Amino acid sequence: MRGWILYRMNESELKPESYEINRFLEVAPSENIELNVLKPERIDLIVTKEDRKSILVDGNPVALPDFVLPRMGAGTTYFTLAVIRHLERLGVPCFNSSTHIDMVKDKLFTQQVLAQKNFPVPKTMLVKSPIDIDLVEKYIGFPVVVKTLSGSQGKGVYLSDNKKSFKDLMQLIESTNPNFNIILQEFIKDSFGRDLRVFTIGGRAVACMERRSVDGEFKANYSAGGEVSEYGLTPEIEWLATEVSRVLGLEIAGVDLLFHGNHFKICEVNSSPGFEGLEKCCNVDIPKEIYRYLKIRLGIY
Ligand SMILES: Nc1ncnc2c1ncn2[C@@H]1O[C@H](COP(=O)(O)OP(=O)(O)O)[C@@H](O)[C@H]1O
Ligand SMILES: [Mg+2]
Repeated sequence: MRGWILYRMNESELKPESYEINRFLEVAPSENIELNVLKPERIDLIVTKEDRKSILVDGNPVALPDFVLPRMGAGTTYFTLAVIRHLERLGVPCFNSSTHIDMVKDKLFTQQVLAQKNFPVPKTMLVKSPIDIDLVEKYIGFPVVVKTLSGSQGKGVYLSDNKKSFKDLMQLIESTNPNFNIILQEFIKDSFGRDLRVFTIGGRAVACMERRSVDGEFKANYSAGGEVSEYGLTPEIEWLATEVSRVLGLEIAGVDLLFHGNHFKICEVNSSPGFEGLEKCCNVDIPKEIYRYLKIRLGIY
């Protein structure tokens, strides 16, 4: 079986920080998979109804792979989405698909879909300009979580403690870039500095970990320095994570859950989740799980 990973670097440029890609490459031979890592920019898109068996890479026609794993994360640009759509139209199964990568890249759209389906979500509001701060106070309250529409590794997420600091922040944003898309979210205080990350593959929850910040920070992201430990899957966690993945059309997903009393709220969902922290604390081999799923899913053994 031949597969491609779409990534922001070529294979020759990979660094140890590209943990996930290195792991995919490492496990591929033992699963009989010929894997190549390529930057979407190496692909040329020529839309025609002829020749649906090959695609141009570095200007030369090459045979299509059996599957593609897009791993661009929050850096998924229009160009990358166009490449994935093109591959899909040529019949290449992509995990995840362009439509659903695009959907969960938008944190508000994710919450809209989940709320419609009755999943527990924090109250979320889209910022418009000029902003009515009294309305924010009335419907969301303070402290409030301020987030960029898409982002990862906790980089675009900020906790604003009170009305005054929030007003200052909004003034700053409005004066710098009024067209910036920002969402405001109810602060789920039981989850301060801790949350859960569940990894799902093909309708199964394969591992779950708790993430805790170490420095009094409210964000628990592993990539931001959080500590991780295995967390036992309960029927509720498993059901939430697998159903959320299904509703959002993701065959591979990282579902973030916030602690809320004895229950949870869905924080966000990632279509190309990292798994360094997870493999560190849970006894799981994520690339192997993904490859085995793909073999069954595609009927190529
Ligand atoms: N509404 C919220 N209430 C409490 N904590 C939150 C909330 N939203 C986010 N967090 C914390 O911030 C972290 C990063 O937020 P998230 O939306 O997952 O952004 P990113 O895409 O950068 O990971 C979460 O893992 C969680 O620890
Ligand atoms: Mg997150």
